[in-house]
Amino acid sequence: MNDELTSARILVVDDDHANTLLLSRILRAAGFRSVETCEEPEEALERFLEAQAGDAPFDLVCSDLHMPRLSGAALIECIRESTRADGDFLPLLVISADLSAQAEQACLSAGASDFVTKPFKAPQIRMRVSNLLRIRFLQRRLLQHNHDLETAVKARTAELEDARQDVLERLAAAAEYRDITTGRHTQRVGQLSALLAERLGCDAATTELIRRAAPLHDVGKIAIPDHVLLKPGPLSAREFALMKEHVDAGSRLLSRGRSELLAVAETIARTHHERWDGSGYPLGLVGDDIPLVGQIVAVADVFDTLVNERPYKRAWPLAQAVDEMRRQRDRWFSSVLVDAFLAVLDANPDLKAALEEHPSRSDEDREQVARRG
Ligand SMILES: [Fe+2]
Repeated sequence: MNDELTSARILVVDDDHANTLLLSRILRAAGFRSVETCEEPEEALERFLEAQAGDAPFDLVCSDLHMPRLSGAALIECIRESTRADGDFLPLLVISADLSAQAEQACLSAGASDFVTKPFKAPQIRMRVSNLLRIRFLQRRLLQHNHDLETAVKARTAELEDARQDVLERLAAAAEYRDITTGRHTQRVGQLSALLAERLGCDAATTELIRRAAPLHDVGKIAIPDHVLLKPGPLSAREFALMKEHVDAGSRLLSRGRSELLAVAETIARTHHERWDGSGYPLGLVGDDIPLVGQIVAVADVFDTLVNERPYKRAWPLAQAVDEMRRQRDRWFSSVLVDAFLAVLDANPDLKAALEEHPSRSDEDREQVARRG
């Protein structure tokens, strides 16, 4: 027997002193070094529970069946109940002179693992105890192995998720790097879009999805030539037509993805320039034909562009930018979205404070925001 088996902690319970003595001798002679005996079943239960709560729980209990005050079946039932949540297999061996099928059934129903009838032979006890302990230790190793595997899978999944998120953030940043003055525009659009989604009653998972997908709204700008994307002055009609292509390029880039995140990002890339009154592009969708995620990101994108500097415009003061958002009620945005935006602004004083006062706007700026955002 290996060391794991011989050091197993065994509790022998029998109200007959001669029996506990005989059993402990047989077990010690077999090599088991940690055998304890108890002739009071109630005390045995106390000792078991105490050990269970400590560092060295019992690995096996041998119990008589007919004992005063607490029967073997009741003792086993109490032990089983106290160890139910552990997940470990605890061998409970009943040793009794009662040969009746009823007694055997009562023990097995209470949770006994095996049943030996008295008078017993030493080899029989050695074999049953060794086999039951082997099962206990094998099952424990299996549980540990499963736990290790689960931990490894969780770590690997988290690592893959991190890598995936990292790649998506870098993809969003790649489009933005070309126009270095936009800074953290894409991430800010993600944050404001999430606040709007939350305000509109989206659940936590959808809100998080929008927070992650929204920064990819302009990923199609990768396909726009420098002379258009980085042009400091107003765009000509031909240049504007080229600029519009970032919507198509972005949605193509994000299409046929296997994740929900990419599907949402694709919808956003395709619809964030549509307008509530139908005057947007690429399809000129009207009202609620525009997916809600597209409407949300349009609000966040336009507002962030207004209050920040661009190569083609100055940053607008907050009050004027908010006036502009109000002015676009039922034009660029639905009234529901405008109300949600105003409520988000009111509920987030930090967001307001972060937006410094800037020189005043111009109508030319407004036009440029529409063409470049
Ligand atoms: Fe855009």
